[in-house]
Amino acid sequence: MNYNYASRMANLNGTATREIFKLLGNPEIISFAGGNPAIECLPTERVKEITADVTSSPSFARVLQYGLTAGFPELRNQLVEYVKSAGISDATVDNILVISGGQQGIDLALKTFINPGDVVLVENPTYLAFLQIANSYEAVCKGVNANDDGLDLEDLEAKIKKHNPKILYCVPTFSNPTGKTYTAENRKAIAELTAKYGVMVIEDDPYSKLRFKGEYVPSMKSMDTAGNVIFVSSFSKIVSPGNRTGVACATPEIIRKMEICKQGTDLHTPNLSQMITYEYLKRGYLEPDLEKAVKIYGDKKACMSNAIKNYMPEEFECTDPDGGLFIWGKFPKGIDVIKIFPEAIEKKVAYIQGSVFFAEPEGTENYIRLNYSYANAEQIETGIKRLGDLFKEKLAKL
Ligand SMILES: Cc1ncc(COP(=O)(O)O)c(C=O)c1O
Repeated sequence: MNYNYASRMANLNGTATREIFKLLGNPEIISFAGGNPAIECLPTERVKEITADVTSSPSFARVLQYGLTAGFPELRNQLVEYVKSAGISDATVDNILVISGGQQGIDLALKTFINPGDVVLVENPTYLAFLQIANSYEAVCKGVNANDDGLDLEDLEAKIKKHNPKILYCVPTFSNPTGKTYTAENRKAIAELTAKYGVMVIEDDPYSKLRFKGEYVPSMKSMDTAGNVIFVSSFSKIVSPGNRTGVACATPEIIRKMEICKQGTDLHTPNLSQMITYEYLKRGYLEPDLEKAVKIYGDKKACMSNAIKNYMPEEFECTDPDGGLFIWGKFPKGIDVIKIFPEAIEKKVAYIQGSVFFAEPEGTENYIRLNYSYANAEQIETGIKRLGDLFKEKLAKL
C-alpha cells in the first residue's frame, strides 16, 4: 500500500542516531553516544520507599483516577519553589505546568506557537531532538553562531531582522551538545533583544543543577521583563528519565494555551510519576542526591578530559564544561566522523556525530559529541584510548 503520509513526515528522519541506539544494546560496546544519567545516580531505594508509601496510602485510588491537565496542585505548588531556585523569584502556581519531561515542554511550546513555514532560531549547534520536533511542526530552523559568552549577539540580531523568527530556542546552561554556558550578561542581552523584536524564547534547562565547577548563573527567564521566555526544566537528568516529569514556567496566558495543547497530547502526566516527584522533593531528597551526582559527574568529566589529553590526537579540540553531561569536540577538516563510525563500532566504542546537532549541517562532519555520564571510569579510559588510536590512524592518512 502507498501510504499518503502528512507533509510534515517528509522532513522527519531519525535514522542516524536511531541506528546508533540499536547498536548500544550490545554490552561490549562502550557508549559515549547517549545522554543517560549514571545508573548509580538513579534513586532506586528512595523511589521504592515512596511508591510503597503512596500505594499503601488510603488515598491511593486518586493516583489511579484521571487527574488535572496542569498537574497535581500540590506538585505545582512545590514547583513554584523549584523554579525560584533558578532565580524566577516572582513565579506563582499560575505560571506552572507539570509536563512529561522537557521534551514535552518543547513540543507543547511549539504546538502553541508554530505554523508551517515559521522560522525558529537555534544555536549552532543545538539539541538534536529540538530540530526533529521543530520539523514535525514544519518550522524552518536557522542557526545562530555562538562564542565563548553564549550567543553571538550581532548574529542573533541580524538573523532576527533577516528571518523574522517566531521563536529562539536555546540551552543556556551546560548545553547539549557543547556543555557550554552563556554568561549572565549574554542572557540579559538575549532577553532584551528578543523582547524588543517580539520573538518568543524557549529556555531549555535540564542541566543547570549539575554544576561541578564555577559560579551559578541565573536563568534567562529570571531576566524576562516582557513575558516572552518559556522556561522548561526536567527531572530526567537529576532524578530519573524514566519517571517522565518536568516543569514549564511562563505567563499564565501561555501556560493556559500549553495546557490546552497538553490535553490533546496525554491529558496529564501520569499521576504516579507526579506523586513520586512530589514526594521526592517534599522529603528533601533532591539536595543530598544532587550533591552526590555532581561529584560523580565531575569525576567522570575529569576522567574523560584526562583520557582525551592522553590519547586523542593533539589536533583534536574540545570543550571543558563546568557541568552537565557532554564534551563537544572538533577534528581537523577532512576527518569525517560519520564515515569512520562503523570502524569505531568494530573497535567497540560509540559516539554521536556532531552534524546531527546543526540546523544547517553542511561541512560539520568533523564534529563529535562525547557523553561522560553513563560509562564508568575504566570504560571512559579504554573507550577514549580506542577512539584516540582510531583517529590518529585516520589523521596520519589525511
Ligand atoms: C537539552 C535537552 N532538552 C530536553 C531533553 C529531553 O529530556 P526529558 O524529556 O527526558 O526531560 C534533553 C535530553 O537529553 C536535552 O538534552
